[in-house]
Amino acid sequence: MSTSADIATDWLEGLSPEPGATKPDPILVADDVHRHYGGVVAVDVDHIEVQRHSITALIGPNGAGKTTFFNVMTAFDQPQSGNWRFNGDSMRGVKPYRMASRGMVRTFQLTKSLAKMTVIENMRLGAKNQIGERWYTGLMPFMWRSQEQAITERAEELLGRFNLAHMRDEYAGSLSGGQRKLLEMARALMTDPKLIMLDEPMAGVNPALKQVINSHIRELRDDGMTVLFVEHDMDMVHDISDWVVVMAEGRVIAEGRPDDIAANPAVIDAYLGAHQGQSLLEEGEIDDGFGEALDAGLTLEGGVIAGDDQPFIFADRKDGARQSTEDEDER
Ligand SMILES: Nc1ncnc2c1ncn2[C@@H]1O[C@H](COP(=O)(O)OP(=O)(O)O)[C@@H](O)[C@H]1O
Ligand SMILES: [Mg+2]
Repeated sequence: MSTSADIATDWLEGLSPEPGATKPDPILVADDVHRHYGGVVAVDVDHIEVQRHSITALIGPNGAGKTTFFNVMTAFDQPQSGNWRFNGDSMRGVKPYRMASRGMVRTFQLTKSLAKMTVIENMRLGAKNQIGERWYTGLMPFMWRSQEQAITERAEELLGRFNLAHMRDEYAGSLSGGQRKLLEMARALMTDPKLIMLDEPMAGVNPALKQVINSHIRELRDDGMTVLFVEHDMDMVHDISDWVVVMAEGRVIAEGRPDDIAANPAVIDAYLGAHQGQSLLEEGEIDDGFGEALDAGLTLEGGVIAGDDQPFIFADRKDGARQSTEDEDER
């Protein structure tokens, strides 16, 4: 039996874990991408390749440039320099609303204005914006209607898949934090993307829902998509990623399989540099999850998690209790 999941990981064999590593079949290739804001270098990526049909995690401390990289790749932000190819085509200068029709989407957080629309309207908007207003409204009325109907059908199918069908006509603003994350994902799928870029899809959601999102991400890959996602929970990254790319201070500082990354001194340095002053670490009570380089105190496992604003550190003690600088469930 050969599922797409099996196929997806064949390429890992023999791949060398180093920044800018060449992939056998990259869907996204970026070169010399530079984005600075005044004196702040947000992105300074020499070379990066994302393997087709992979689940690739993009990790790195807060401020590393992950979101800016997503913005630049999807044309929501313009770099000072850089070239990138998606599916073989140069994307430099392509308008943001054209990106989705080319097959590349990223998730967006539910903004205030979208919160005042219903769930189904949000979904329809996902398609409409992506296809492009001009093209859309320029269609003949009868075509427009059948297009409209196809969009609604697609939206309803996705709402079912993401367990949001019962919320169809509710205001998106009334959704729970976790349901919003699901809606963001569902909306991004309206245009049948080849590459979906998820920026912290699990930030601030409870552990049970993290598992749900986790299986949705696997499903996307099994359906033939490529997933590039930003996540700070190292357990989750380890669990679902085929490959991990690490950014710090705008650069790609490491790449590899999840196991390679956990033991990489450059990665440990980057996180420690970014988390200096975390009192729990200084007390030596917890392991930050990057293992042997640190003196692990009482812990078995741990990690660095960053939510929407503040990174925090957790550790699972031998007695089973989770200790953290912030209670995960209350976020
Ligand atoms: N619109 C902006 N204006 C000024 N500085 C920005 C802007 N967006 C991002 N930055 C800066 O660029 C750097 C990278 O930010 P970001 O891409 O959000 O990092 P990450 O997503 O990895 O946390 C940070 O230093 C951030 O303060
Ligand atoms: Mg970010």
